[in-house]
Amino acid sequence: FDSSKYLKQILPFPVGASVNPRLLGENTSYRGVVESEFSSLTAENHMKMALIHPESDRFDFTKGDEIVAFAKKNKSRVHGHTLVWHNQTAQWMKDFQGDQQAWENLLKNHIQTIVKHYQGQIAGWDVVNEAFLDDGSLRPSIWADHIPDYLAKCFVWAHEADPQVLLFYNDYGQDGKPKKMEAILNMVQDFKKRQIPIDGLGLQMHISIQSKKEEIKQIIEQSTATGLRIHFSEVDIAVNPKNNPDFVLDDTILQTQSDKFQWLFSSFGAIPRKQQYGITFWNVGDKDSWLRGYFKRPKEYPLLFDENYQRKSAYQELYQRL
Ligand code: XIL
Repeated sequence: FDSSKYLKQILPFPVGASVNPRLLGENTSYRGVVESEFSSLTAENHMKMALIHPESDRFDFTKGDEIVAFAKKNKSRVHGHTLVWHNQTAQWMKDFQGDQQAWENLLKNHIQTIVKHYQGQIAGWDVVNEAFLDDGSLRPSIWADHIPDYLAKCFVWAHEADPQVLLFYNDYGQDGKPKKMEAILNMVQDFKKRQIPIDGLGLQMHISIQSKKEEIKQIIEQSTATGLRIHFSEVDIAVNPKNNPDFVLDDTILQTQSDKFQWLFSSFGAIPRKQQYGITFWNVGDKDSWLRGYFKRPKEYPLLFDENYQRKSAYQELYQRL
């Protein structure tokens, strides 16, 4: 294991992490790992609707701009996450009253203002995030409820604002949920038929050591068969998915997790080169993971770096096998 080299130097595709600008600013270890290991950055939260567009007539690009500036200094790519989602919408959006035209104006303005702001600085956008339920139906949301055919419209609006930027549909948990996967594939087919622009599919890959490889393999193959670019967009591998309070991390579990990381990377490597958009981890060290913060699962260790930003055994083994 040659510890003087970094992931981004040995991988033939972009490898990234979602980042928290507060940690980038105040934690030098966190910042150091981000600078040296990763070639692509995503804002974990700060480009989401509520944060970037807190009032109807006010956008707040401060934190997003910080991440973009940091990435530029570090010669990293930036992936935009996410223009439209049912979660983390602003209160004023939830309270909004208006007819279909008014809703369309709101969403079009939201998308186009952001896309134009970051034109030339962001490689690709998650245009819509998590629009389908497990049964393949369209997820109810303020957008779906007020704007017929909103998925297609969002992609068209984004493309109008910046014809160069890559447009992704991003979702989670397609493995073992054939109806959900089918809905996504149908959307892609429909878009192609109607010439609605779409460039890629984001597979979030919030998986666990128990996730079934055959099921994941299948959704990778199905997604790849569309010919679109593929992004493993939010990778983490939970070791204690049931949040067992008595969980103890041991070498066997670490080894299982390590094997899964290696398998995931080699599965990505098997995708045709020109379809490989990259792999993004959902934050950096175990303690930064949303599984700890958002889901309050203190005994979870889903990433490649430990609490002190040291490379875990999974990192070292992955590295050796790359
Ligand atoms: C999560 C963030 O990690 C948390 O900090 C936040 O509180 C909630 O959102 N799918 C996504 C991401 O597309 O935006 C989510 O991020 C995790 C699930």
